[in-house]
Amino acid sequence: VSQDERRGTGGDEEKLYRYNGVLYSTLLSPEEHLKCLEKMQAREDDIMLVAYPKCGFNWMVGVMRKIIAAATGVKSESKIPVGLNMVCCVHPQKVDEAPSPRFLGTHLHPNNIPASFYEKKTKILVVFRNPKDTMVSFYHFSNSNPALPSAKSWDTFYSQFMSGEVAWGSYFDHALGWEKKMDDPNVMVVTYEEMKQDLSESIRKVSSFYGFSLTDAQVQQIADASTFKAMKESSASSHGNMGNVFFRKGEVGDWKNHFTPEQSREMDEVFNKRLAGTKIGAKLNY
Ligand code: A3P
Repeated sequence: VSQDERRGTGGDEEKLYRYNGVLYSTLLSPEEHLKCLEKMQAREDDIMLVAYPKCGFNWMVGVMRKIIAAATGVKSESKIPVGLNMVCCVHPQKVDEAPSPRFLGTHLHPNNIPASFYEKKTKILVVFRNPKDTMVSFYHFSNSNPALPSAKSWDTFYSQFMSGEVAWGSYFDHALGWEKKMDDPNVMVVTYEEMKQDLSESIRKVSSFYGFSLTDAQVQQIADASTFKAMKESSASSHGNMGNVFFRKGEVGDWKNHFTPEQSREMDEVFNKRLAGTKIGAKLNY
């Protein structure tokens, strides 16, 4: 990937690069990204978590770590490796060497996840969220995360999100990519909104998807420790000085404080055009 394919010419603009038409964060170099994808070999018992950015990935990471600890007896959370992006945070070799079950995570589009995950029938949990709240969360995240270009204005970010010119690409392309996998028994989609509505039920669903059985008391304990308040309070130890960045507001419907009526109408139109009548669209309960 040449320098020319990076967006813009300096400063903030250097924080993203374009690969196969999609923008990515330069947290890892494009070369490392490629190397990692080529090397990555799935295992049948990998615990794989996928989410488009800002759909509740870190929330589910917290929930999953607690589920895995309760079900497998792995007490130290640090023993469970998380390849946040498959392309960042964990060196590919470390991922290869990690003992099973590995807990892996990525923001990649389903078509870019190495084929071995599908061939090995690795169970993949996908977290999705209403696109309006996802956009709002992404906007604030861009402004508070030094690894991403700052969003300039809401209107500018709105246009970039709608056209997929944001890190990890178009929300709609991701949703339509998962739509093709909705009948795959090894793929399960859970929404941010259903977690907000009944976290215990989501914990039970996720546990049984991975073949873990938890007692009611364990489910309750995990739910209590995974509320927004609880996770924000412990975010300094889980996320260091990025705690307040990852745990911002934690609500459904914050889009109403950001979208103009015109923007809301346009998003509704695009949603209806691209996702109405799809299974993933129905899951989002838009
Ligand atoms: P907001 O910016 O709307 O507050 P991701 O982890 O994919 O980056 O998603 C971040 C979003 O999930 C943020 O949304 C964050 O506050 C929210 N979130 C994180 N933990 C949560 C929890 N326990 N309950 C509800 N929302 C949570």
